[in-house]
Amino acid sequence: MNILHIDCSPRPVSHSRQLSAGIVQRLLSGAPGATISRRDLGTQPVPHPASDYAAALASPAAMMAAASASAMDLSETLIREVETADVIVIGTPMNNFTVPSVLKAWIDHFLRVGRTILPTPEGKVGMLRNRPVLIGIASGGVFSGAGANQPDFLTPYLCAAFGCVGISSLQFLPLQATAFLDPAHAASAREKTLAAIDLTVIGDFLKDNATA
Ligand SMILES: Cc1cc2nc3c(=O)[nH]c(=O)nc-3n(C[C@H](O)[C@H](O)[C@H](O)COP(=O)(O)O)c2cc1C
Repeated sequence: MNILHIDCSPRPVSHSRQLSAGIVQRLLSGAPGATISRRDLGTQPVPHPASDYAAALASPAAMMAAASASAMDLSETLIREVETADVIVIGTPMNNFTVPSVLKAWIDHFLRVGRTILPTPEGKVGMLRNRPVLIGIASGGVFSGAGANQPDFLTPYLCAAFGCVGISSLQFLPLQATAFLDPAHAASAREKTLAAIDLTVIGDFLKDNATA
């Protein structure tokens, strides 16, 4: 089993990094032989789409012409990292109600018509096989539940973005109100968040692959 572990916080020690590390730890305890691929967008962001990449995506003809060009190299690398992953783990902060720009830039390379998305008259169809995506979210305030006091464009956006390529098994594990979190209670708050992992989705997958 291969786990693609993505982090997005610019902080070397952060709530979302600790959440994603905790998720990976739980997956490893179910599948000790699992391998881990790392993509640290927080410390090594991928660039925003460059002119040649944007030009290639401008039309189907341009796309075909550029299919083997270097403009697609980074996109291809990032897509293959996902294709070779059985499970994806993401640790991300909420920034201004949605994903941080480093994750958005990654998505701009990962969602590509003709490669991960098939355009049809009925709409976009995903070209990748489904796989579990576990997303640890750290937010300074509260965006879900009874005490929510801000909009949430993060979880619906990631559902739409991954859904667009055919990946619909997303699980959100939020640690909210980090701005008000007493450091002495951070570890227990994190454990509470991680305890919410839905093993009916992940458990079957891990059991089937426990010896991989
Ligand atoms: C630029 C920026 C924008 C932010 N926007 C929000 C926001 O919209 N909602 C929120 O609840 N917290 C917001 N925060 C707070 C972070 O989500 C919070 O500090 C979180 O714990 C950061 O994740 P980390 O601990 O993994 O670095 C923002 C922080 C930054 C730096």
